[in-house]
Amino acid sequence: VSPSLRIVVIGAGRMGADHVDRLTRRIVGAKVAAVVDIELARARRAAQADLSIVTASSLEEVLNSTEVDAAVLATPGVLHKDALLELLGRGLPVLCEKPLTPDAESAWSVLEAEQGLGVRRIQVGFMRRFDPEYQRLRGWFVSGALGAPLMLHFVHRNAESPPGFTNEMLINDSVVHEFDAIRFLTGEEIRSVLVRRGRITRHAPAGQHDPQHVLIETESGILADVEIFSNAQLGYQVAAQAVFEDGVVVTGEEQGLRVSSAGRWGGEVPRGFIERFRSVYDAELQSWVNAVRGDQPVGPTAWDGYAAAACCEAGVAAQKSDEKIPVHLKAKPSLYSTLS
Ligand SMILES: NC(=O)c1ccc[n+]([C@@H]2O[C@H](COP(=O)([O-])OP(=O)(O)OC[C@H]3O[C@@H](n4cnc5c(N)ncnc54)[C@H](O)[C@@H]3O)[C@@H](O)[C@H]2O)c1
Repeated sequence: VSPSLRIVVIGAGRMGADHVDRLTRRIVGAKVAAVVDIELARARRAAQADLSIVTASSLEEVLNSTEVDAAVLATPGVLHKDALLELLGRGLPVLCEKPLTPDAESAWSVLEAEQGLGVRRIQVGFMRRFDPEYQRLRGWFVSGALGAPLMLHFVHRNAESPPGFTNEMLINDSVVHEFDAIRFLTGEEIRSVLVRRGRITRHAPAGQHDPQHVLIETESGILADVEIFSNAQLGYQVAAQAVFEDGVVVTGEEQGLRVSSAGRWGGEVPRGFIERFRSVYDAELQSWVNAVRGDQPVGPTAWDGYAAAACCEAGVAAQKSDEKIPVHLKAKPSLYSTLS
């Protein structure tokens, strides 16, 4: 490994371009060597006129021509599997934006490829695990100081959904974060998913049933509910309330300055995830870079990506059937048995 990790960023859309920016400006021990986007102009824009960065429209082109040590994968989730297999085939570590893949079968094929290497090469971009509040909330689950956990209530609101955002994407792209958060906080697998769809906001695009209420049960019977509301107008809100036998812990309260003026008081709601989670993405990327340089994998694994994909698959089936759908997981391979 060279002194500074040479990274290829694949997909230069909202997340990919933001990751290029953070790797260039804020992350220590890594530099962007190449940016790939099927729309070459986007790759060039993300490279911000840095002529040392190779830009290309195909991953293969870069891998055959440029030396890289690791990859950040930020194409849409349905495209992750092929790119992951290509990167694993070359033994390259990869930070894969969530979801690992959108369904359990394709996720499992990625796990099999990684097991063939005998080492963990994939970290999945479940960045909430790097949020200090989530880490402290997990501490309450681990310590048992408030008694046994009973319920979790989540709120996940976006100002408006991007064009083409489908009902399935409400689960696969949004609620996937809560599936992982529940697994991370409770240390348990998820047993079943049920989706309730009620009144639709007038702001929902045609064909999208927004908001939805997702009801989740873990293997020990902890109940969780998620309000997923993609066109909430007000900005971006992600919050959780954990209910224990002897107390309640709340995360994601709006913070920042409260301004009083002209007979009113108030603060700001972040516009989107990039503003809300900026420092958390920084912590995620820095931790990944440190782990790759030290050859010590940390953070959410491909197993976590697979388990979340199985939950998403159940969630999408639940949306269609209005029934409680069980989540079935294969046995956990030994490569993932140590805690991440
Ligand atoms: N962790 C988070 O909070 C978070 C937030 C948003 C998105 N994401 C994830 O990040 C990923 C990207 O999401 P986004 O919002 O940036 O999407 P986006 O549509 O803004 O960007 C995707 C980019 O990939 C490019 N692309 C498409 N096919 C390609 C190919 N074959 N090769 C190279 N580039 C290709 C597109 O041209 C586009 O620029 C998704 O997996 C998404 O779920 C994560």
